[in-house]
Amino acid sequence: MGFDLDSETRRQLGHRLIDRIDEYLSGLPSRPVQLPLDQRTFGDLQNQMPEAGQDAAIFLDHITTRLIDEGFHVPSAGYFGLMNCTPAYVAVLAEMLVAALNPQLATLSRSQLASKIERETVRWIGERVGWPGPFDGTFTSGGNEANFSAMALALATHFPGSVEDGVASIGARPVLYTSSEAHHSIDKSAGLLGLGRSALRRIPVDDTARIDLNQLEAQIQQDRAAGHKPFCVAATAGTTNSGAVDDLPGVAAICKRHNLWMHVDGAYGGAAIFADRHRDVVKGIELADSITIDPHKWLAMPFAAGVVLTSHPESLRQAFAVSTPYMPRIPGPEVLDNFKVSTQWSRRMNSLKLWLTLQIHGRQAYEDHIHRQMELARYFADWIAGSERFELAAPQTLPIVNLRIRWPGLTEAERHAIHEAIVLEVTRDGRRWISTTLVNGKSVIRMMVISYLTGHRQIEDLIIALTTAAKNV
Ligand SMILES: Cc1ncc(COP(=O)(O)O)c(C=O)c1O
Repeated sequence: MGFDLDSETRRQLGHRLIDRIDEYLSGLPSRPVQLPLDQRTFGDLQNQMPEAGQDAAIFLDHITTRLIDEGFHVPSAGYFGLMNCTPAYVAVLAEMLVAALNPQLATLSRSQLASKIERETVRWIGERVGWPGPFDGTFTSGGNEANFSAMALALATHFPGSVEDGVASIGARPVLYTSSEAHHSIDKSAGLLGLGRSALRRIPVDDTARIDLNQLEAQIQQDRAAGHKPFCVAATAGTTNSGAVDDLPGVAAICKRHNLWMHVDGAYGGAAIFADRHRDVVKGIELADSITIDPHKWLAMPFAAGVVLTSHPESLRQAFAVSTPYMPRIPGPEVLDNFKVSTQWSRRMNSLKLWLTLQIHGRQAYEDHIHRQMELARYFADWIAGSERFELAAPQTLPIVNLRIRWPGLTEAERHAIHEAIVLEVTRDGRRWISTTLVNGKSVIRMMVISYLTGHRQIEDLIIALTTAAKNV
């Protein structure tokens, strides 16, 4: 069978798949996150590339069933997990449309309206940031690429010669700063930009898991005195472990005093700018030179969608622009092709899903979505605070709650072992998912409200499961 399926076959396959997806979505509110522990498999496949094909309808049905039956269901309402969401349905449809039309977002000439939609979406997000002056940005594959891009912008702006001649031409060691709780993509960025991961100074956090501003400033002064060249501070708005938001105005003041680029990794928490009622949690984000926001986290988009924004539009070209003779030019004034402002060349249209969701549901839907998750997390945190067996391990700012067992006299290792045993019990039947982690070196149990399907029912269920598990350890 060639790739060029006839219309009838396409329609039959498509309708059947849409029906299967719909069955899956209809069952999601009560679907377990995964199989019970004793039935979990890591699905074997028949490891050979098929020489001949097979019946499309049968095979599609088969693999859909397997993916559902054997899968780990991030979109489930009982997934209190890491920053992965239940995708908005219109975004799922947008993904199908994008795959079918396959616009090449690298250049405006091959994606006219699609590129305009992408740029409009970037503008909408930037407007919510509230920058007083011009800004620009670009969609990325996620927060990793967005943070990497931002570090590249900071480097290219501070040391313009380094884009062409490399970091060796700077003549001293460029160094950058982030907190000990920041995401590892900042380490990767420092390595990949040729600075070396050791150029990243991980500054300790205070007891609210926010970067310690005094230590940040002291380290900058020390580095200057040692002849290094500080150029950037990457603050976090919503750390992975605890959802802590660094003191952004405080970081901004330090950056201003020392002439450093201020980046805000708001991959998760930056989305609070979509909710008027909650944007204060990221107060000061508008002081940043660059910002990462991942729509595939709090904005309910399927993978992949990240955005990097900057209040220095020219820095994007400075870092990323190249020229190529093989693309047809649109007559008239030079147009802004995406490849000149991005690490990517060929690129997928990661923006349509967000643009379409905003068109169809409006920003107000995000206001409600964010508010509801804040309220659910607060309800859960209040329960923890009043519990006899657990206590809050870190203040709850965003819909992430860190708790720990109330049990005086334990070593950190003993406490961690108990936390792991509790999490194993809570997740054993597969109905819900939470995890353990370390915040500022201390063991915690972590839960996060991230699915728009999660409601009080799932929170109460989690409370019961935690209470039972804690009694049995
Ligand atoms: C704070 C933070 N920044 C960046 C990232 C990386 O984002 P992505 O997974 O989209 O690459 C994550 C991922 O969870 C994160 O929590």
